[in-house]
Formats: sequence, structure tokens, C-alpha cells
Amino acid sequence: MLEEISKTKLEIEAAAANISSREDLQAFRVTYLARKGKIASLFARLRDVPPEQKRSVGQELNALRSFAEELFKEREKHFEESRKEKKGFLDYTLPGREFPLGHTHIVSRTIADIQSIFVRMGFSIATGPELESDYYNFETLNFPADHPARDMQDTFFIEKDVVLRTHTSPVQIRLMESRKPPIRAIMPGRCYRNEVISARSHVQFHQIEGLCVDTRVTFTDLKSTLVAFAREFYGETTAYRFRPSYFPFTEPSAEMDISCFLCHGDGCRVCKFTGWLEVLGCGMVDPNVFKAVGYDPEELTGYAFGMGIERTAMLRHNIPDIRLIFENDARMLRQLG
Ligand code: PHE
Repeated sequence: MLEEISKTKLEIEAAAANISSREDLQAFRVTYLARKGKIASLFARLRDVPPEQKRSVGQELNALRSFAEELFKEREKHFEESRKEKKGFLDYTLPGREFPLGHTHIVSRTIADIQSIFVRMGFSIATGPELESDYYNFETLNFPADHPARDMQDTFFIEKDVVLRTHTSPVQIRLMESRKPPIRAIMPGRCYRNEVISARSHVQFHQIEGLCVDTRVTFTDLKSTLVAFAREFYGETTAYRFRPSYFPFTEPSAEMDISCFLCHGDGCRVCKFTGWLEVLGCGMVDPNVFKAVGYDPEELTGYAFGMGIERTAMLRHNIPDIRLIFENDARMLRQLG
């Protein structure tokens, strides 16, 4: 029996030395220290030991148990410590983690870029409501009732005389009603049209409107202002042309094209193989508009222009589909940061 005890002691020592994981530690406890473990079964055999040896064998067994318990505790402590160490470990050589930062949406940024150019030219900024009366959206802008020009813009009617504005031009009227000339302002804002949603058109979009009114404003002022803008916004070498057009609230009216900056005039899909991109509508303020706001058309002249923000952003950033701008897919937003 004593011999067996010292054999077990050697075994325990070897087993403890081999503990290299928490699982090993657990196995050690089960094998030696548990209620059905080896030490317990040695204790059980104490019954058969002759009475005169019981005392010394008992002492040996107690010593064996303490020995195993000590080893167990020591190894257990070792694992606790290494775990704590791991938890508090800081690797100063790791590269820092980048936190994703939000940024201005492409529509807001395009508005801000356009605005800043005009603000430097002396324009101030004005805004107006998105829900407009027929009076401001059409009537004062020289769209007579039943005039076919109203069909140019498919309107969302809220009530008979209340519409979601189809353009930012009503802000011109509100501004002229509230201020005396000279006026030089740009007016950004959201507009709505009842259109089939496609890659090129959406029911919601933004425009930026420009208005200049004074005693001797000429078409040359309009052209030079817009050319200066186009050169700065689209690039110094941008070519341009003005084509005659029609808007009820301007006379004469024009549309401005710039040379396609993707193919440089050679012709591509974006410019529909014309070499030109249409970027805005403009013209001299129609005398009827001045009359509607109580200005004297004999005394005053002015020019106005308007451009689509999404269209501008799509051209500038080569975005193939207007829907991408409103869907807020993070993959898209990140690219336009
Ligand atoms: N409001 C016109 C449109 O939506 C654009 C425009 C503005 C044209 C000002 C001329 C002058 O198409």
C-alpha cells in the first residue's frame, strides 16, 4: 500500500507537470481529486489495512491528497494569471482603427459648390416653400390658365390651387414681392414633378435658380455671368453655346450647353453623340413677370436662370442613374464623400 502511494505521488507529479490547458487541469482534478478519483479509492482501501499500520498509511494518504491539492491550486492560479494578463494586454504596434465619419450628401455638396461661386460674384441666397399656390408656381410666372406651357411640367396637385412646386422659379416672385431692386440672388431648393421614375428623371429633384434685376441688366450680363460660372464649375477650357429656347417667364429665352467634358466634343453616350451637354435654362425676365410683382418693366430689366442639381451632379461625377442619388446605399454614398 505504501509503495502504491509513493507510485501515485510520482504519477501525480508528472501529470501536474503536463497540464497545459484548462481542460488538462479539469482532467487532473477528475482523475485524482474527485470523489471517484484515484486518491479517494486509495482512502477506501484503508479499511483493509491491518490496524497497526492504519495510522501511518492514513498519514501518508493525507499527505498525498494535500500534495495533489497544492499542485492543483498552483496550476489553477497560473491559468488565472495568464488570463488576466491577456485581458490587459495592449499591443502598441497595432495600426489605429478608423472610425467611419459621415459627410455631406452629394446633393447638398453640389448646391454648396454652386452657391459659393455665385456668392463670390455678389449673389445672396434665398429660399421659399415647397408647397406652392398655383399663383406663385404658374400664374405670376406668366403661365396663363389653359396655356399649353403648363404641360411642360407634370404637376402634383394637392388641392385645386395648391401644388408641390415644379421648379424654384416661384421663389423669384416671392423675392421680388418682398424686396426692392437691385436684386441679385440664387435660390436652391427641392422640386417635384409627376414623372415616371427612370435613370434620367425622378419625382423629386433639386434646382438652383438665379435672378438679377436692376435698371440696366442686359443679355450680355446674363451670358458673361453664366460663362464665368461654367468655367469655374466645369473647368477653364469648357466651351459653351447658347441655344434659343422658350420659357413663359423669360423673353428671350435660351438654354446653355457646355462642351462634353467626358469625350471633349468627340461624341459619347452621355452627350448622346452630340459633343454638347445641356446644363441650364435662362433668359431675360418677361415684362409680364415684372408687372405681376408691381415692378415697372419700362424702368427695370433682369435675367434669370435655373439648373437641375441632380443632373449637374450626375454629369460632374459620372453617375449613371438619378435613383442612386436618393436611395442612400452606403456603398454609393461612400464613393461620393
Ligand atoms: N424654371 C425653369 C425650369 O424648371 C428653368 C428656368 C429658370 C428657365 C429661370 C429660365 C429662367 O425648367
